[in-house]
Amino acid sequence: MDKPGLQVAIDGPASAGKSTVAKIVAQRFNYIYCDTGAMYRAITWKALQAGADLGDEATVKDLLDHMTIRFEPGTPVQKVFVDDTEVTLAIRQPDVTNSVSQVSALPAIRQELTARQRQIADAGGIVMDGRDIGSTVLPQAEVKIFLVASVDERAQRRLKDNAAKGITTPLATLKHEIEERDRKDSTRKVSPLTQAADAIRLDTTSLSIEQVADRIAEIIHEKELQQ
Ligand code: DC
Repeated sequence: MDKPGLQVAIDGPASAGKSTVAKIVAQRFNYIYCDTGAMYRAITWKALQAGADLGDEATVKDLLDHMTIRFEPGTPVQKVFVDDTEVTLAIRQPDVTNSVSQVSALPAIRQELTARQRQIADAGGIVMDGRDIGSTVLPQAEVKIFLVASVDERAQRRLKDNAAKGITTPLATLKHEIEERDRKDSTRKVSPLTQAADAIRLDTTSLSIEQVADRIAEIIHEKELQQ
């Protein structure tokens, strides 16, 4: 029987290219891809829909306890569902993007989503991207990558992504939002954005997506040979 695949954790700040690269790598190895940021966005979307106070941990947790978050394959992006409602586009809108740091700082929300993420990763053969995958969710992951890129480069990338979705936020605003999100993600008390001690750091500022994917694929191949 084939050995089950590895657990691959890809962490890093907003717009460092994690999800694009993670998807390519997952496809190459026939692994499952799990976008944990989409899970934090999904509960944020739900809380905004419900008109909940985003700082009210018990209310937001109750919403999460009564909802499912599901991924389905789709091109060019994986589809995301909250219960039976497709939220793929809704969770990328600026209202969710600007509120998600607040919701993802709630300890009860992190605890519940971490448990769901571990369940998804349990069988192996998974590429999971986020902020705390290598450090907290899957500390035993065989491959840990920490992707970084300059703020200017990340703002440019987000501008391009947004244009494809019809979102027209100016570059300077995007830069400011990225810096703000970096600050909030890195300074929150529970599971802040941190590079795990055993993670490999890759600066993607002047690399193409394909070059980054190739490098990660090499690292996975090397690990597979050692298993
Ligand atoms: O990667 P993204 O922009 O879709 O992530 C959305 C937000 O969710 C981001 O502000 C940080 C948070 N997040 C987190 O706290 N932990 C994760 N594992 C993934 C995302």
